[in-house]
Amino acid sequence: MTAYPARADTFTLSAPVRLWEDGFATDPFAYYATLRAQGPVGWAELAPGVSAYIVTDRRAALDLLHDTESFSVDPRPWEKTVAEDSPVLGMMRWRPNALFADGGEHIRYRRTLLDAFDLVEPHDLRERVHRSVDLLVSRFGPDGEADLVTQFARPMMALIFNNLFGLPDSESGRLDAALGRMMEGGDRAAQGEAEYGKYVMELVGAKTAERGDDLTSRLLDHPLGLTPEEVTWQVFLMLGAGHEPSANLISNALSRILGNSAYYSTLTSGSRPVMDAVMEVLRYETPLANYGVHFARESTSFHGMWIQAAVPIVVSFGAMGHFAERDFAGAHHPHDASHMSWGAGPHSCPVKQPALLIATEAIERLTQWLPDLRPLVPREQLGWRPGPFHRSLTALPVAFTPRSPDQAGDRA
Ligand code: HEM
Repeated sequence: MTAYPARADTFTLSAPVRLWEDGFATDPFAYYATLRAQGPVGWAELAPGVSAYIVTDRRAALDLLHDTESFSVDPRPWEKTVAEDSPVLGMMRWRPNALFADGGEHIRYRRTLLDAFDLVEPHDLRERVHRSVDLLVSRFGPDGEADLVTQFARPMMALIFNNLFGLPDSESGRLDAALGRMMEGGDRAAQGEAEYGKYVMELVGAKTAERGDDLTSRLLDHPLGLTPEEVTWQVFLMLGAGHEPSANLISNALSRILGNSAYYSTLTSGSRPVMDAVMEVLRYETPLANYGVHFARESTSFHGMWIQAAVPIVVSFGAMGHFAERDFAGAHHPHDASHMSWGAGPHSCPVKQPALLIATEAIERLTQWLPDLRPLVPREQLGWRPGPFHRSLTALPVAFTPRSPDQAGDRA
């Protein structure tokens, strides 16, 4: 691995905060507090030996995300400095897709994604969510107990995406497993990336041979004329960018609903909408905790930190949320959307409305089937998956009165 200069002569860097440690998953606030003590931009490691600047301040984050002249999203100069087997490459390696493209190329790719998703009508998406929830509840409902992460949120997102992009339900387990490994950024990240690549290649291959009524076929036939290879990389991005954060949005929101007596006692009476819990997660505990990866085009001073070119500068949506919870919890109107969980600027999430619809519909449908969900583990004792990028529960065990979706008159 080639070492890159970690500091400029006139600036002193603190010891890097290790976002790859298990302790970060257990107590992110402590790590964010250390970063914030360094100023609006802190110094961290995303993996052993992989350093990055971390932006924990909202003003600095907005400046970064909007300043396309000084900052690029192209990671290729940085990649030359990173070991081939670095576990973060799965999430940060350059690919010809919207996330890693600047300027006109970015606009072209992003247009195709927006147009493809625009054709999914909300009522159609709602039906797909209901179908997926019903299928999963039919599997675990009769048991009276379930883990809402591994038996609900994750497989549900895999079912929906698999279905939207045009593969049969039987393929969804592969998608879920591969993406999970890649996102954790640990020993199995490279294996996850390879499995995920294979899944996407096979999907685009199948749709190139025979079109269907699905997002992959729409990308292949888009008037902007993406090549099959370009389509492969946009699909790779959409599935990857969508599955993990949406599954985590759902499970983090469910954990807040079940772990908070105010929510829990009112949920079944319907007086407190599920959207409140989803907004709470977006505001305080966003699933995509540290991303928005940029690179200074030339070394520069930025909010008090000397930023070396070709070193990642990452937005900590997670830090901003944790500080907001500490400073403002309860002060927001339930529908105040002044958080940054969807990012900002040209690369902000293009699919936030469908993602919100999926999350709220999924939770509502689940709680219609199983109105007396009870947490088996207090929220403070739940485990979180390691990894610098996400805020993701390992499990959310619950109990409930056994139900089967086949039972007549079971659901309201
Ligand atoms: C249906 C589910 C979703 C899909 C298909 C999706 C897709 C995408 C895509 C394609 C991008 C890149 C856009 C670009 O570079 O122009 C993006 C960016 C982003 N998404 Fe989503 N997303 C989904 C759900 C979510 C969720 C649930 C969150 C978190 C709450 C989220 C947070 C973000 C953020 C923060 C960015 C900006 C990243 C950056 O600046 O590098 N997304 N999303």
